[in-house]
Amino acid sequence: MNEKSCLVTGAASGIGKATALLPARSGARVTAADIDGPGVGKLRTEPASVSGVAGQARQAGGTSHAEGCGGPWAGEVRGVGADRAPRGIRVNAVAPGTIRTERVLALKDEPGGPAYLAEVSAAHPMGRLGEPEEVARVIAFLASDAASFVTGAIVPVDGGYLAR
Ligand SMILES: NC(=O)c1ccc[n+]([C@@H]2O[C@H](COP(=O)([O-])OP(=O)(O)OC[C@H]3O[C@@H](n4cnc5c(N)ncnc54)[C@H](O)[C@@H]3O)[C@@H](O)[C@H]2O)c1
Repeated sequence: MNEKSCLVTGAASGIGKATALLPARSGARVTAADIDGPGVGKLRTEPASVSGVAGQARQAGGTSHAEGCGGPWAGEVRGVGADRAPRGIRVNAVAPGTIRTERVLALKDEPGGPAYLAEVSAAHPMGRLGEPEEVARVIAFLASDAASFVTGAIVPVDGGYLAR
């Protein structure tokens, strides 16, 4: 990712934070955006080069994991990916399973939360939840030159959940 410029939204925590820090640590210029201004500011204290922007990104709306891979949103990724390909613009996405971010881990303090988390973990064939860095690594690959012939792809990062 050296010499790349990256814009990461939702970068103050969870998957977005891991996604911002990974390329920054390998020499990319990263601009981190989030509605949580103080949170995004804290990224500057990490041993990496990240500049911060506080603001609101447009959100496409929530989708379930399965919808992420097969629903209308998936069609958008494939359609825009094919449409922009002649101009050398690649469009790809990841579809994460359940990832151990702060908001997911907070469930363990809620009534029924530990049982729910155990059930969700077991539903992933790998028998565990994913780590934010495991999603960040796939995003970094898709954004890198190593994925130069990949566009319109939606990559599940889900410990085999969709493969069941
Ligand atoms: N954690 C999971 O298991 C999981 C699984 C599949 C998909 N996702 C999706 O991945 C994304 C990140 O999940 P997470 O668990 O890391 O969440 P998170 O709550 O840890 O982080 C989300 C970040 O996005 C920021 N944010 C929210 N709305 C914003 C907006 N409009 N503009 C800019 N920043 C905004 C928040 O301030 C926060 O810092 C979410 O869209 C979530 O639905 C998460």
